[in-house]
This record gives sequence, C-alpha cells and structure tokens, in this order.
Amino acid sequence: MRFIDVIARKRDGHGLSRDDIDGFVHGVLNGAVPDYQASALLMAIVLRGMDDQETSWLTEAMVRSGDRVDLSDVAGATVGKHSTGGVGDKVSIVLAPLAAACGVVVPKMSGRGLGHTGGTLDKLEAIPGFRVDLPVEAFKQVLRDVGACIIGQTASLVPADKKLYALRDVTATVESIPLIAASVMSKKLAEGSRALVLDVKCGDGAFMKDASSARRLAETMVAIGRRAGLRVEAVVTRMDEPLGRAVGNALEIIECLETLKGAGPPDLTAVVERLGARMLVLGGVESDAAAAVRRVRDARLSGRALATLARMIERQGGDPGVVDDYTRLPAAPSRAVVEAWRPGCVMELRAGAIGRASSVLGAGRARAGDAIDPAVGIVVAAPRGAEVVRGQPLVELHHRDGRGLDAAAALCREAIEIGDELPPPREIVIGEVR
Ligand code: URA
Repeated sequence: MRFIDVIARKRDGHGLSRDDIDGFVHGVLNGAVPDYQASALLMAIVLRGMDDQETSWLTEAMVRSGDRVDLSDVAGATVGKHSTGGVGDKVSIVLAPLAAACGVVVPKMSGRGLGHTGGTLDKLEAIPGFRVDLPVEAFKQVLRDVGACIIGQTASLVPADKKLYALRDVTATVESIPLIAASVMSKKLAEGSRALVLDVKCGDGAFMKDASSARRLAETMVAIGRRAGLRVEAVVTRMDEPLGRAVGNALEIIECLETLKGAGPPDLTAVVERLGARMLVLGGVESDAAAAVRRVRDARLSGRALATLARMIERQGGDPGVVDDYTRLPAAPSRAVVEAWRPGCVMELRAGAIGRASSVLGAGRARAGDAIDPAVGIVVAAPRGAEVVRGQPLVELHHRDGRGLDAAAALCREAIEIGDELPPPREIVIGEVR
C-alpha cells in the first residue's frame, strides 16, 4: 500500500478500508508514515469526515496500539465517566466519590488541561501531596477499598492517541467529530470499565459549539462504545458559561468540596445529579431514574460522598484535612476585580474568554508540559442573569504579583455582556443519547 493513495482516497471523499486505517495507525507509531503524511490524512478526515464503520476501525486500531487495563479483579459494577472538556468543568472530582458512595465503582483516568480548558489532574494536584501517577495495581486497590480513584493515563495506554493528538494540536485538526470520538473512545475502551457515561459539552467554551454537532458527537461515541460491547450513554450539557463560579485549580477544589457539603452552585449540582443518576442506572444499582436521583442527592447531602472524597484524597497521598480547612490549599497572594461598567443585567459570560483569562493568569498552559500555578484563577461574582449596579464586581481575579492581570481583565471584559433585560433562562442539560 502506498500511503499517498490512502490520503488521495480520503481527499476525494471515498471511504477507507480497515487495512488502510490499521496501516495508518501502525505507521504513525513505527515511523513508516511520516508526520507530514499523517497530517495530510488528518486534514482530509476533518474535511471529508468518516462514517461510523471507519470511525470504529480507527478506534479499535488505536486501542490495539497499547495496553488495556484489566479490571476483572475489581469487584462491583465499574462505571466510567468522561467529559469532552470545558471551562470550570470539575464534575469528575465531585461525581466519582458521589457515585462511589452510592455503590458503583468509578475507575477514572483523566487528562491535563490544555488551552482554555482545565484538566482534572491539574485540579487534584492543587491538593498538597495528591498523586495522580499511581501504578495500575495501586489504582485497583484504591478502587477496591474506596470505590473511586482518579489517576493520569499511563504512557502505555493508547500511545497512538498521544502521537496523533500532538499532531492534531499543531495542524488545526482537533475539531472533527470522528477524530474526537476515536480519541476519546479508544482511551475509554482501553481503561477497562464495563459501562460509561459521557458528558458532551456544547457551547462557546467547548469543542462543539452548537447543539446539533454536540449531539452528533454524542451519537458517534455511543455507537462506537456499543459496537465494542460497552454499556454507554451520553448527556449533552451546556458550556456557554463556565460551569459553577470558580475557574482555576485550587479554587475549583474548594467549589467541589462546597458542592459535596450541599452548598454548590446550581448548574454544577444539576450536572452532577443527572450524570450520577445515569451512572447508577447503567451500573445496575438503581433501575428507576427518579430513585437514582434521590439516592445521589442523599449521598451528597448526608456527607457520605464528602467522606468518600476525603478517603480517596488520603489514599492518593493527599492531605484530607483540606476538606475542612481550605487554608491548606494554595491561595494566590493578591486579588483584583473587574467592575460593571454600567448598570443592567449580565446577559453573557462567555466561557472561552474566561478560560483564556484564567490561563493567562497562570492556571492553564499554552503548550503541553508548561508549568501551571495551582493558586490563581477567577471567581465569578455576578453570573449570567445577575442584576448589577455600576461599579459592582463582576469577576474576581486571583493573581500572583500581577502576572497576566491586564490581559486577563481585558479578556473578562470581552467575555461579559451587560444588557437591559433579564436573559432567557437556559437549561444546563440539553440532550441525552441512550
Ligand atoms: N479529548 C480527547 O481526549 N480527544 C480529543 O480529540 C478531544 C478531546
């Protein structure tokens, strides 16, 4: 097979065979397909798409590129959870202990933040001592003892995705439904859960900007999972504004703890309850959706889920004292506010720009491997729908010695729209694929 012919076939809108796709994934890893040819094929896929069969073949070839985690010696219903990523998306840190406190086992392998989106691992590492690099055997032991454990993906898990994602990141080929679906689902299949709930984000701060593309991505991922024998569902949730009020690593940990104490923001609480209920149903712990919501709510309001999180933190080397004492978390030395420039109503608070603002303060990274500052970030003081008077704080910027402050403040002003009327209410959950 000449690889140039594979590129030309996709360029001209034809389907690829299983051999073409296997040859691509294999060749990218062993160097037989150079980066420039791989990038050309990726761009042809972005422009021409892939059907469900091609996407499944790509996913399977990617899974076979590395090891698979074997969770057969972890008893109980293992149910994974994955989000396509957004701003202020701290759901996993609340949901994993919450679902565990309700009786499912939540093995979670997460990623780091890149660009304007935050990463669960970076947030957890804001907790002093917390380790995300547990070996697989230790990961399984925490799962057996606590029911939830969150670590980073090991190097041997889907190496083809690591190579392809790095290429996509620098060739403007991330935003493609088949490529995102294969990237996400290859990792989820390799992680070894028997069931999976997907949170597909939709809006300004997400890869999928509109509801119909988010739904197509959700359907594609669910179809791939089903073909591979996984019990899988997706929930489509809004990412027009940051989720919750806090954006930035330690600030988001505080918000997670508050949510598990019953004092979380309504949007985050609603997403956690919906996803948690689906996890209990998929795991077979509850058969009725309303009963599942009640069980999740009870675990949150009774403090059981908070106790589970404290145990998970302790078993992963972190300081469980943060649960009751937030001063044990890193805090930025200085704060500044962006004030309302006119009276009115907050109409929009665009997640993309708020995420970039948090990133320039130091909470995120522009390139993989950049260092981040766990203490800095943004707290929204006036969310969408709030009535404000002139001079009232809209957002609070937690910064270190002014680093990135002017640029972050400008981005926040760009992100926020103040108008004369109350904006129409928005449902946070906008669809489901079952
Ligand atoms: N998250 C992933 O893991 N892969 C993508 O391609 C996009 C988001």
